[in-house]
Amino acid sequence: MTEPKAPNGPKRVLSGVQPSGKLHLGNYFGAVHQHIELQEQGNAFYFIADYHALTTLQDASKLRENVRDVALDYLALGLDPDKAVFFRQSDVPEVCELTWFLSVVAPMGMLQKAVSFKEKIEKGIDASVGLFSYPLLMAADILAYRSHLVPVGKDQVQHLEMTRDLAEKFNRVFQKEVFPIPEYRLSREAKVSGIDGQKMSKSYGNTIEIFAEGKALKKVVMSIVTDSTAVADAKDPDKCNVYALWSLFADEAAKAQMRQRYLAGGLGYGEVKKGLLTSIESYFEAARDRRRRLASHPSEVEEVLRSGAVKARAEAKMTLELVREAVGMRGSPIA
Ligand code: ADP
Ligand code: TRP
Repeated sequence: MTEPKAPNGPKRVLSGVQPSGKLHLGNYFGAVHQHIELQEQGNAFYFIADYHALTTLQDASKLRENVRDVALDYLALGLDPDKAVFFRQSDVPEVCELTWFLSVVAPMGMLQKAVSFKEKIEKGIDASVGLFSYPLLMAADILAYRSHLVPVGKDQVQHLEMTRDLAEKFNRVFQKEVFPIPEYRLSREAKVSGIDGQKMSKSYGNTIEIFAEGKALKKVVMSIVTDSTAVADAKDPDKCNVYALWSLFADEAAKAQMRQRYLAGGLGYGEVKKGLLTSIESYFEAARDRRRRLASHPSEVEEVLRSGAVKARAEAKMTLELVREAVGMRGSPIA
């Protein structure tokens, strides 16, 4: 098969983020940081996955609040609407139509193997048809914009493999190179640990929120679990939660120096925790100020999402036209 047709211009980078509450350091170093970095390559599309959120969040005012929060978070953390297209997933309903087209070539067995579905069921989430077909909607998100590169966390790799299989299968069945086969890219920090040493996750209640501040932030940082090695004794930085979190903010030279201090003894965990607290506060200070300002200008945020959706929707409409023609339908439905 020849190389699939690519949209014009540089490679399309795309990723989605579920509006599922307050962002934490795991989200930032595992996802957001990479998104912001990749916007420099041009042609990046980022969206708030509110259709996906409905599989687990069925409360209209909470959904609205979470969408607003994640929009503020991304813009405050550096998403630049002049560089990246930023929009709400549900402002492009064409992805739902594409989900259908993908569903007719998707083997049931493929979805039955989805690890994230099994994990969600184990957590007690209802096994709705929507939750089961979640990977198809995600594939549609990626393929609707004929994306090339999808930055994601490790937990999403299986979904990307499914997306690649679906794109290939669609192209093969309908004998048309409609979709490029997307690649994924993992973040440098595949697993940020939480204050208890497990993977940082909202569902484990072990997070450090990016926009926590003052006493609340101090309380969480000071409660990071450590062992009971005495201050005077040597400590292993590679087994220390505080060191792992602290090093997210440190450069190589500072890390080497801190490692030596751990190994030499005489360093208390409390001191490293205080250092971590200072790092978090200064690293996110500018973002915190931007977030405050944006929160008091909701119409600016709305305008960013609206104009992003206009651009995204135009792309999705173009793809849908190709898809509809490939399967033997009219390119666009009768208006
Ligand atoms: P949570 O587990 O808190 O519900 P999500 O599943 O909403 O977080 O994660 C959103 C994004 O952040 C995903 O791309 C995921 O891979 C990334 N992410 C979440 N937690 C971590 C972590 N502890 N380390 C690295 N990346 C993470
Ligand atoms: N499923 C992703 C997550 O939970 C969010 C998402 C939805 C996404 N659609 C996407 C990510 C498309 C990348 C591409 O993190």
